[in-house]
Amino acid sequence: MKRITSVLIAILLIFAAITLTACGNSATRFDDATYMVTFDSQGGSAIESKTVYSGNIVINPGNPTREGYYFIGWYKSTEENAEEWKFATDAVTSNITLYARWKEKNSSVSDNADETPSETKILVVYFSRADENYSVGIIEKGNTEIIAEIIKENVGGTLFHIERATAYPATYKDCTDEAKAEQNAKARPAIKADVNIEDYDIIFLGYPIWWGDLPMPMYSFIENHDWSGKVVYPFVTHEGSGLSGTVSTLKSKLVGAAVKDGLAVRGATAQNSRDSARQAVVSWLDDFNLGSEK
Ligand SMILES: Cc1cc2nc3c(=O)[nH]c(=O)nc-3n(C[C@H](O)[C@H](O)[C@H](O)COP(=O)(O)O)c2cc1C
Repeated sequence: MKRITSVLIAILLIFAAITLTACGNSATRFDDATYMVTFDSQGGSAIESKTVYSGNIVINPGNPTREGYYFIGWYKSTEENAEEWKFATDAVTSNITLYARWKEKNSSVSDNADETPSETKILVVYFSRADENYSVGIIEKGNTEIIAEIIKENVGGTLFHIERATAYPATYKDCTDEAKAEQNAKARPAIKADVNIEDYDIIFLGYPIWWGDLPMPMYSFIENHDWSGKVVYPFVTHEGSGLSGTVSTLKSKLVGAAVKDGLAVRGATAQNSRDSARQAVVSWLDDFNLGSEK
């Protein structure tokens, strides 16, 4: 009898220990620190604060709006060199305030014949090559140029085509050979004409992926300008490489610019499936609340 009682007591003790441990865990769960993320819209529409568990990310609250301004992003402070908050990766470990950054829309009139009546300070500048290309045969208009035109249809602004002063060979094979030699030599070939990016605030920057990188005339172009204060939206066409790390390259080269997430579209899709290409562009623009400025 004594033995049965001891066994029963032992079982009860084990059960009590398990219960206490479980309670302890749930108590820890409820005691987890939470932090408040406040959004200071800096003159834009109000955005509600969010409460986040310590170490978690905060969900992007969406873009505020402000009459006469473009929203650029949420920043860690109002300092000019402040870092942009990366909603996908930045963990919240204290109470924080994120600050909206804005760019004033331009009301001045440009004499560029290609500019839409909305007179926005948006530039859609791209490098693109027609002639024979991979997977599309001989084309009259380059794939990236098609995407650039779709972007312009949606946001307005000015289109500008960067071209090498001396045209690349018309056959695909000769072009790839020449482009490779240029890349190996880190060449900065002359371009046919330039555009004054200093007149614009928002710049859509387009190019095909060539040998996993930007074509060399793009370097000639970007190294010739002061990018500080610009908001840059990169877009590329490719045949399998996607953006191929070029957004990081742009982030390091375009000093002082806010370089946004890029768009990558297959060249053959741009050339042969315009509706799909249009959808890709519109959904990318939506991510930034752009596209209604037609
Ligand atoms: C010189 C050259 C190099 C290329 N290198 C790549 C590459 O590394 N990765 C890739 O996905 N596509 C590559 N392509 C394919 C182009 O990125 C693709 O065809 C693009 O849509 C061309 O755009 P465009 O017509 O505006 O010039 C290359 C094409 C050329 C002509």
